[in-house]
Amino acid sequence: MKEANSHTIERNIAMELVRVTEAAALAASHYLGRGDKTLVDEAAVSAMRHTLGYVRMDGVVVIGEGEKDEAPMLYIGERVGDGTDLPVDVAVDPIDGTTLVAKGLPGAISVVALSAKGSMHCPREFFYMNKIVTGPEAKDRIDINAPVAENLKNIAIAKKRKVSELTVVVLDRPRHEQLLADIRSAGARVKLISDGDIAAAIEAALPEREVDVLMGIGGTPEGVISAAAIRCIGGGIQCKAWPRDDNERKLAVAKGIDVDKVYKTEDLIDSTDVFFSATGVSSGELLTGVRYTSDGARTQSLVMRGISGTIRWIASQHNFERLDKLSFFRPH
Ligand code: FBP
Repeated sequence: MKEANSHTIERNIAMELVRVTEAAALAASHYLGRGDKTLVDEAAVSAMRHTLGYVRMDGVVVIGEGEKDEAPMLYIGERVGDGTDLPVDVAVDPIDGTTLVAKGLPGAISVVALSAKGSMHCPREFFYMNKIVTGPEAKDRIDINAPVAENLKNIAIAKKRKVSELTVVVLDRPRHEQLLADIRSAGARVKLISDGDIAAAIEAALPEREVDVLMGIGGTPEGVISAAAIRCIGGGIQCKAWPRDDNERKLAVAKGIDVDKVYKTEDLIDSTDVFFSATGVSSGELLTGVRYTSDGARTQSLVMRGISGTIRWIASQHNFERLDKLSFFRPH
C-alpha cells in the first residue's frame, strides 16, 4: 500500500504531547470516584484543548469529542496547535474510561495521537468495530475472519507457547457471550475488563505483558487510536465494522461503504509518521494513575514514535506552585 505521506516529521512531537495528556489526566483526577462522568470529561477536555494550543503544529482533529454541533471543544475538524507549519491529523481521547474515573476504578488513561496529514482514517459511520490485537511476534498470524480457536492456535505458535498459556483481554459485555465461550473452549485464559479497550489493546501489543491478545467489539475511534499506538509498537490490529442495527448497516451501504472490509493497522494509520502519548488517570495494568504529593502530583506516561519505534515510560513530578505561574499548564 502506498503511504499517505512518506516525508518524515523531523521533531519528536510526542515529547510535546506528553504535557497534553499529563494536563488532562491531572485535571480529571480531581473527580476520581466522585460519581460524575460529565465532570471528569469536561475537566479533561478543557485541559487538553488548552494545552494542545501550545503544541507546535497545524493540527486538525480527526477523532475527537464528536461533530461540531454536539461538542463545543475538540470537535471533528477543529484546528488545534499553535498554527506552526506542521500539518498533522490529531486523535484525542481526553479520557478513555470516564466511567472508571467516576467510579474510582483502575485503568483510565488520557490519550493523544498524531500522524502525518491525511493518514488517519476513521470509519465513523460505525459506532463499534470488532477488533483483534496482538504483538509483533504474532501480528502476521491473525485473521479477524478466522475462527477464534484458529487465531489463538496461530498466536500460540508464533509466541512459542501453548494456547492455555495465552491470556485474552475482552470487554465485559453481554454481546461477547459467544466470543467468551469460544475462547474458553479453545483453552485460553481470559481477562475481563469493564472499560478502556485502548489501554488493553496496548497491553496486548506490548511484548511480555500480562495479556497476549485483545478480542471483541469496542468503540470505532478507540480502534483507530489503538492502531496509532500499535503502529509505534510494531504489533498488529485488525478491525471490522459491527453495525449496531440494520439502520446503521443500511446507511453505511447507501454511502458505498463495504461493511465487510477488514481494516488492518496500515488502513487506519497509513504513515510511519505517527506519535502517541498516554498518561494514567487511575492506576491500571498499563500505567500508574495520578498520585498527589505535598507539593503537587506524580504521573506516569507512555510516549511513542512510529518512525523510530522508541517507547518511553515517563515518570513526572509536577510542582503546582511553580506551574501556577505558567500560562500553558492548568493542572488543577
Ligand atoms: P468512554 O471513556 O468514552 O466511556 O469509553 C470507554 C470504553 O470502554 C472504550 O474503551 C470502549 O471502546 C467503549 O467504551 C466500549 O463501548 P460500550 O461501553 O458501549 O460497550
